[in-house]
Amino acid sequence: MTEALFPRLAEALAATDIAEKIALTTKIAAEWKSGKLDWRDTAPIPLLCGRPARPALVTHKEVLQRSPQTPEGRAHLLHAILHIEFTAINLALDHAARFRTMPEQYYADWIGVAAEEAEHFLLLQERLQSLGHEYGDFPAHAGLWEMAEKTENDVLDRMALVPRLLEARGLDATPPIQRKLEAAGDHQSARVLDIILRDEIGHVGLGDRWFRHLCAERNLEPESTYRELLTHYKAPWPQAPMNESARISAGFSPDELAGLAKKR
Ligand SMILES: [Fe+2]
Ligand SMILES: [Fe+2]
Repeated sequence: MTEALFPRLAEALAATDIAEKIALTTKIAAEWKSGKLDWRDTAPIPLLCGRPARPALVTHKEVLQRSPQTPEGRAHLLHAILHIEFTAINLALDHAARFRTMPEQYYADWIGVAAEEAEHFLLLQERLQSLGHEYGDFPAHAGLWEMAEKTENDVLDRMALVPRLLEARGLDATPPIQRKLEAAGDHQSARVLDIILRDEIGHVGLGDRWFRHLCAERNLEPESTYRELLTHYKAPWPQAPMNESARISAGFSPDELAGLAKKR
């Protein structure tokens, strides 16, 4: 007996309680692996993204930057990353739930990513709790989910702007954050970010692969199409210094990275 996949994805996406969202996501990933979920069902289903009442979402400029040298500053930093992981669960669920004409492997890939994002959330939540704080204690950045809404009509744009742009920025941002955490003596959090960085190279790699797959289907040249999309969506351009080795492992070509760096 199989069950339709998409209502299950919609249910996990809509969950407002984090523990429930994570439990539903983990269960989808396990049942998908054992072949219990059917991706060929075509019934349309409304999608709504659920999140808890806290944290309050604010613009980038309103997110407080504090020195990670103090425990309070470190809690703010870990909270900001935790919010990214929370949003990343929803993003991966939405990639899988929203675009219904993709090959089976596409669903397998993003279901797997949603489960990894849930693991990242739990690992970082533990670090934040060790500093006496919970998810929701500080305001968080609204921007990541906004890009999901802007790209909800086209899976090619979604792959370019979310995994291949925003998650790739995470590859650049992580090593400097790890150095700050190490400098503050928080080696445990830095090791959690080792795990996250390793997995995130995989997520960007999937975004790169599906973006290139969709470009090939539509006879588009991927690297120039990517630059056109960044301009079209007025997206934040990748900023130097980029994490070149991580980006190359994820599928960027050295030429493309050089081109992106130059435009800046
Ligand atoms: Fe993550
Ligand atoms: Fe990710």
